[in-house]
Amino acid sequence: MYLSLLVLLPLLISLQFLLRLTRATLSSLRDIPGPFLARYTTLWYFNRVRKGGFEHENITLHQQYGPVVRVAPNQYSISDPAAIKTIYGTGSRFAKSAWYDGWKHPKQWTVFSDRDIRRHADTRKRFAGLYSMSSLVHYEPFVDHCADLFDRRLAEFSQDKKSFNMGHWFQCYAFDVIGNITFGERFGFLDKGEDIDGAMAAVHKVLMYSTLVGIYPEWHPRLFGLLSKFAWTGAGGRAYIGQFVQQKIRLHEEKTDKLEKGRSEHVQAQDFVDKLIMARNKDPEKVTDYHLFIMGQSNVSAGSDTTAISLSGIMWYLLQNEAVLRKLRDEIDDYTNRGLLSENVAFKESQEMPYFQAVMKEALRMHSATGLPMWREVPAGGAEISGRYFPAGTIVGMNTWVAHYDERVFPDAKSFRPERWIEAESEPERLKEMNQMHMPFGLGSRTCLGKHISILEMSKLIPRIVRDYNFTPLRRSWTTENYWFVRPSDFEVFVQRRVRGQKLST
Ligand code: HEM
Repeated sequence: MYLSLLVLLPLLISLQFLLRLTRATLSSLRDIPGPFLARYTTLWYFNRVRKGGFEHENITLHQQYGPVVRVAPNQYSISDPAAIKTIYGTGSRFAKSAWYDGWKHPKQWTVFSDRDIRRHADTRKRFAGLYSMSSLVHYEPFVDHCADLFDRRLAEFSQDKKSFNMGHWFQCYAFDVIGNITFGERFGFLDKGEDIDGAMAAVHKVLMYSTLVGIYPEWHPRLFGLLSKFAWTGAGGRAYIGQFVQQKIRLHEEKTDKLEKGRSEHVQAQDFVDKLIMARNKDPEKVTDYHLFIMGQSNVSAGSDTTAISLSGIMWYLLQNEAVLRKLRDEIDDYTNRGLLSENVAFKESQEMPYFQAVMKEALRMHSATGLPMWREVPAGGAEISGRYFPAGTIVGMNTWVAHYDERVFPDAKSFRPERWIEAESEPERLKEMNQMHMPFGLGSRTCLGKHISILEMSKLIPRIVRDYNFTPLRRSWTTENYWFVRPSDFEVFVQRRVRGQKLST
């Protein structure tokens, strides 16, 4: 038995190796450049992603090898503005690749990870209204409540003169806002900064697991069942979020039932689940309990960390660039003095401040929340990308960071210069090109559903805290970790309440 294993194992490995060698040699894409090992094994990509800094490596790869780079057998990273429309354009038939399978329960589907183009389009059509600009008015009071609490915590930190981790507190804010908007109830993180039910930790565990297991998606169903039994694993984290969301929905339904019985009139829909329950009660075939579950889960998983990271990105670049901070302050003070900015900053008011808009856009360019290529599968019939023909089934993708640091579109790309967006307004063609390459919220039919909600959250908080507080960062550089989301870990600051109208010293 052992003897036959000893003979069989090396034989199998050699056969595998020969198969890969033959495939790599005969592939019509064999001349596409890339790291040597990536030609034969996915392990090269896995190992680089595992290190947690692939956004930088991906930029370097394109500087070294050009617009199309092989990162694994049959998998190519693309850096070419002209390819955006082909791969991600509305109506393109490029489905999400199997990497996205790692982001769901093996037996379920969710809107973010769905690879079925038709079902995905159908889901989006049903629920897009809940995320639309016109829905924001319903959500704004939920955000105000959390922004008030955030302000209170800053006031306390200011009094105590203690440094604190701004990235962590932005997470408390973003998670509480999403809880409030989705379930009409905060998670409670903003009270003490504690991860009360472990939801935050669970989301973080999922990130590393899903990012890495998605590279070998065939392993996901095998590993998930076993690992989900252990709370400390990423699979355990996913199982926990699922249960957590189900429990929130159940409690919400009980509350709604009681209110309906007590009042005998219809409860006014306000939060996200309220709206979904109403839609389900009206048409249970169109909106099912499963829809309620996946939409609630998507909000928690996709909407909290991303917004927190983007808030950190904005504040980080402001604090590292005093001239920009000063200019933004001047705009905020000017609007406040003219009575155009309320105490808690209305969303509508924030949209009228051109420099703030440019700051936000530029910060999301410099630090995009997602940092791996958005992988897609070339559809039947193949496709031409960057002057090459790619057969059906090839995996291609663009990384937001690669696009955002493309010197052809964003000269001096490493400089944080909100002015570039204002200057480009006088050159419509240039602005169009820049907008096409600005993709912090993804692209085409898979663009972020929660984009308006996150802009609401950021637009209300940043002008308010910039107006009311002075922040001093403890460091000139920060550490980030990229497991799909590029999270900072050491964004420590001191804070001091600011006298209104006080200028920054020059
Ligand atoms: C600044 C904050 C945010 C950023 C930077 C962001 C970024 C993204 C990106 C890049 C994608 C596309 C990923 C891909 O194609 O692989 C995406 C999709 C998605 N986002 Fe966001 N997101 C943010 C906030 C939110 C919020 C607040 C919610 C929910 C309330 C949300 C829900 C979703 C959903 C459901 C999808 C999947 C859409 C689909 O596949 O049709 N996101 N997001």
